Amino acid sequence: MEFTDVVRRRRMIRRYSSRPVDPAVLDRVLQNALHAPSAGFSQGWAFLVLDDPEDVARFWRSTAEDGLEAPDGWLQGMTTAPVVVVPLSHKDAYLDRYAEPDKGWTDRDEARWPVPYWDVDAGMAALLMLLTAVDEGLGACFFGVPGERLDDFRAAFGVPGEYRPVGCVSVGYPGDDDRRSPSLRRGRRPVEEVVHRGSW
Ligand SMILES: Cc1cc2nc3c(=O)[nH]c(=O)nc-3n(C[C@H](O)[C@H](O)[C@H](O)COP(=O)(O)O)c2cc1C
Repeated sequence: MEFTDVVRRRRMIRRYSSRPVDPAVLDRVLQNALHAPSAGFSQGWAFLVLDDPEDVARFWRSTAEDGLEAPDGWLQGMTTAPVVVVPLSHKDAYLDRYAEPDKGWTDRDEARWPVPYWDVDAGMAALLMLLTAVDEGLGACFFGVPGERLDDFRAAFGVPGEYRPVGCVSVGYPGDDDRRSPSLRRGRRPVEEVVHRGSW
């Protein structure tokens, strides 16, 4: 697929068909994510990959905001995804990397960082997953783990405390009755409104 088509066709998919995802296809999604840029080439990310129905069910049990008893439309759709990938950021990997001689931030002072590059990089990897999914004919959706369910999520999957999910990526073949987000009614902001050429 042409790159521009991949970008333009990408949209979040929140309901999936029962067609399973070939492990080789999922591997390509993950391999491409490893080509994301990272500050100091730290690559301080980790991806928790859940492609077994039991694991996916455990994911939803541990993260669903109001439990699974009376799932709303969003949850009913999202739980049809055969695969969930959780990209996690690892701040210490960046503090360690930038304490090396070529960077020299031996004080490991977080105030030096203009923004949390550990989260930025994991987010860039997630975007590559979303784009690769489109290129492979798959659908995907980026969504968050509710803050109050973070401990349950970590406990359910043995995730060390220093790793933080920047979000989650559901992956699968799009279902027939996917519902688009009401947020889209906001419309896409035009380039003249967003871009400041030469000065603000
Ligand atoms: C950081 C981030 C968090 C998001 N969280 C959610 C979420 O929790 N649930 C959801 O359904 N969509 C979530 N989205 C998807 C947005 O709603 C979606 O990208 C936006 O409405 C534009 O639609 P499109 O991506 O289909 O073009 C999130 C997107 C981003 C980038």
